[in-house]
Amino acid sequence: MSELDNLYREVILDHYKNPRGHGVIEGADVEAEGMNPLCGDEVSIFVSFDGDKIEDVKFRGRGCAISQAATSMLMEMVKGRTAQEVAALDREELLEEVGIPLTPIRLKCALLGLGVLKLALHKGKGTPLPNEWAGLAEDLELR
Ligand code: FES
Repeated sequence: MSELDNLYREVILDHYKNPRGHGVIEGADVEAEGMNPLCGDEVSIFVSFDGDKIEDVKFRGRGCAISQAATSMLMEMVKGRTAQEVAALDREELLEEVGIPLTPIRLKCALLGLGVLKLALHKGKGTPLPNEWAGLAEDLELR
């Protein structure tokens, strides 16, 4: 394993152990949840808006280190951005943050939070669920 991979792994573990934006927003404007049916892991995301801007965003969930760490990273990436910008966020942007190569199963873990967030934005602001998500949405149970 390269030194860089090790570094990414440490960052992932740090996010897993000390998740950023972890918790619930009481009176959130919108909330969405999703589950990875392969393993039963779940993520719920709460968003409050200031106009179209994501004023605050939090999550709670249970699952593997990758799913929870990637969602934690996502919270930091999207706060203060507009719903439209985040709805159009390329999943590669998040995967670059995660940094390590992922198997297809792990990819679903890493993208669980992003799918749930985009679903919340869709519910709250009517933003589209992007095409790139279409194939995965069947595998991830979003509600
Ligand atoms: Fe369940 Fe990763 S093993 S989301």
